[in-house]
This record gives sequence, C-alpha cells and structure tokens, in this order.
Amino acid sequence: MKRNDKNPSGGRTGNAVEVRGLVKHYGATKALDGVDLDVREGTVLGVLGPNGAGKTTLVRILSTLVRPDAGSAMVAGYDVLRQPRQLRRTIGLTGQYASVDEKLSGRENLYMIGRLLDLPRKEARSRADELLERFSLTEAAKRPALQYSGGMRRRLDLAASMIGRPAVLYLDEPTTGLDPRTRNEVWDEMQRMVAEGSTVLLTTQYMEEAEQLASELTVIDRGRVIARGGVNELKAKVGGRTLQIRPADPAQLPAMARAVAESGLDGIGGAQAVPDEDMLYVPILSDQQLTAVVGLLSERGFAISHIGTHLPSLDEVFLAITGQKTAVEPDTALEEASV
Ligand SMILES: Nc1ncnc2c1ncn2[C@@H]1O[C@H](COP(=O)(O)OP(=O)(O)OP(=O)(O)O)[C@@H](O)[C@H]1O
Ligand SMILES: [Mg+2]
Repeated sequence: MKRNDKNPSGGRTGNAVEVRGLVKHYGATKALDGVDLDVREGTVLGVLGPNGAGKTTLVRILSTLVRPDAGSAMVAGYDVLRQPRQLRRTIGLTGQYASVDEKLSGRENLYMIGRLLDLPRKEARSRADELLERFSLTEAAKRPALQYSGGMRRRLDLAASMIGRPAVLYLDEPTTGLDPRTRNEVWDEMQRMVAEGSTVLLTTQYMEEAEQLASELTVIDRGRVIARGGVNELKAKVGGRTLQIRPADPAQLPAMARAVAESGLDGIGGAQAVPDEDMLYVPILSDQQLTAVVGLLSERGFAISHIGTHLPSLDEVFLAITGQKTAVEPDTALEEASV
C-alpha cells in the first residue's frame, strides 16, 4: 500500500511524530510554551488538556497550517518547516470544526478529496462509497451536506480525513457533540485505521475516549506538558487505589484501623475509619498491599463482611493533575470489586 513505501519514520526512531521544544505565542498568550512529545508509529497518543491548553495549536502546527515561533516537529520523517508539501500528503486531519463543502453532496465531497489526493477516478469513487457505508451515510450520500445534521457532518469530515489512508491522522476532539452510537462508530473506525498501520494523534476532553483508544497520554495545560504516561501509570501517579473493608462487627472498626495503622506494612500510609459507613479505607498501590492488609486483619482475628477497591477514574486523575480538584469522595463513587 501507499503508506508502506513512504516509510513513515524514515526507518530511524519508530516515532511517526516527534515534537521538540515547540513554542507558539499569540501576542501575550503562550499557546505552546516548549512542548515535547513523541507518537510511536502505529499507536494512538491521546493529548488531553482543558480549554485553551494549546491542543488545536499543536495540531495546526503539525498540519503545517501554523508556523511555530521556535522548536521543531517531524511527521512521518518530514520536517514541518522544510518539507510541508510532502508532510501534507502523508497526513489526515479532522479539525475541531467541520470543513466540508456544504453545497456538495456527501459523496461528492469525498470523491473530490480523493481526486485532490491523486486517487484515480475509480478508486476515488469506491473509497468514497466504502467510507460512506462505514460511517452510516450511504442513505444521505446524494444530499447536499447543507442538509446534514451536526453528527452527520462530523462523520463526513472524519471520512474525508481517512480517504487517502493517511500514515498519520490528527483527530482534534473528533467526537465532541456526537451521540453515543456515532461516537462508537468513530471509535471503531479509528481502531480499524490503527490496525491497518496508521498512527493517530487524538485530542479529547472525554476521558473515556482517551481510556478506550489511547495507549499513551500526554496532558497539556497552558501550553506545557504537565504529565505523560499510560492510563494506569497516570492513575498510579495520582495515588493508586483505595481498599474498602467492612468489619462483620461494626464495634471492631476502630481496632481494625489501629491494627492497620500500626502494622508497619510496607508502603501502607494510613487507614481511615468512617463509622457512619462502617467502613475502613486504606490507600494501596499494589495487589501485594491489598493481600497484606487483608491477611493481617484475618491473622488478628477480625471478621470481615465486605471488601472492595476503588480506582481513581481518569476524570479524577485529570482534575488532580490540572490542579482543579483532588479529592475523591469515597461515598459517591464506589466501584465494588470482589477480591
Ligand atoms: N489565532 C489565534 N489568535 C490568537 N490567540 C489564539 C489563536 N489561536 C489560539 N489562540 C489562543 O491560544 C491558546 C490555545 O488555544 P488552542 O485553540 O490551541 O487551545 P485548545 O487546547 O485547542 O482549546 P479547546 O479545548 O477549547 O479547543 C488559547 O489561549 C487561545 O485563545
Ligand atoms: Mg481546540
């Protein structure tokens, strides 16, 4: 296929995207303030960040639509500043705002883009039909895009970015405003593209989306990278899980809390007894700690009626690292897990 003979990484680093020290100012606003990131070939990098963090600016620079003030970026082995034309031919872009031609039908939009990408007529037609089908637009294919709903336009926009089977695909908040069914279609299609060898840089404010699709996450805020890693890595950084234990006899709760607190178990910081709930909460970082705490209590003769664990959600992680909220209310978000 086209993609393979382009040798996306230039055979050097295994990264389809490499960004170093990227800076972009708009007047006094530092949209990007020295961003470094890599996207490994064939993977999805999730770029998370609150409004105004710099996500769209990053995508625009990587698409050669905006020039950085400083720093460098390579995409599929091409330099954004020195090889913009080659670079543009290897990427697909779905912007935060749909960019379809409203006067043309869905099918005409896709066909036209296929032709602009130098696909032969027959292939442009068949690729257009294939993508219309995949995004449930076959019935609406002949209607002008003007008459499409917001979700249909977004789907058409996504289909357009996939026409040329790009080696690297940028999706800037691709599912904002989509209903759950459409969102699932977009996710399926994105996964299919990755299975076929594409690399995806996905910006999103939906933690569920990041969790489902991205193998690595980079969190940016005010133009700077403030955290990066796998989903579980970020969760662990924010403080691991909370173990919940309910004594069979509520009167034993204080004694249980003392036993854990004074146990000297490796890495067990504290135990909090919440009498209103008849529950003991113990922050843990590993399964070994979980086993150790439960083992200790049972050795000391405490009878336990319930055990559960609560993992912070990615939402909580995000709020914690962007500094907007840290606490997890133990009584509002219990995820029971039998152990
Ligand atoms: N063309 C522009 N002119 C002036 N300021 C801009 C321009 N584009 C972006 N900015 C500013 O740069 C900062 C980063 O904007 P950007 O659009 O990259 O954020 P974002 O992370 O995509 O936000 P959102 O989640 O709202 O889409 C913001 O403060 C924004 O106001
Ligand atoms: Mg944006």
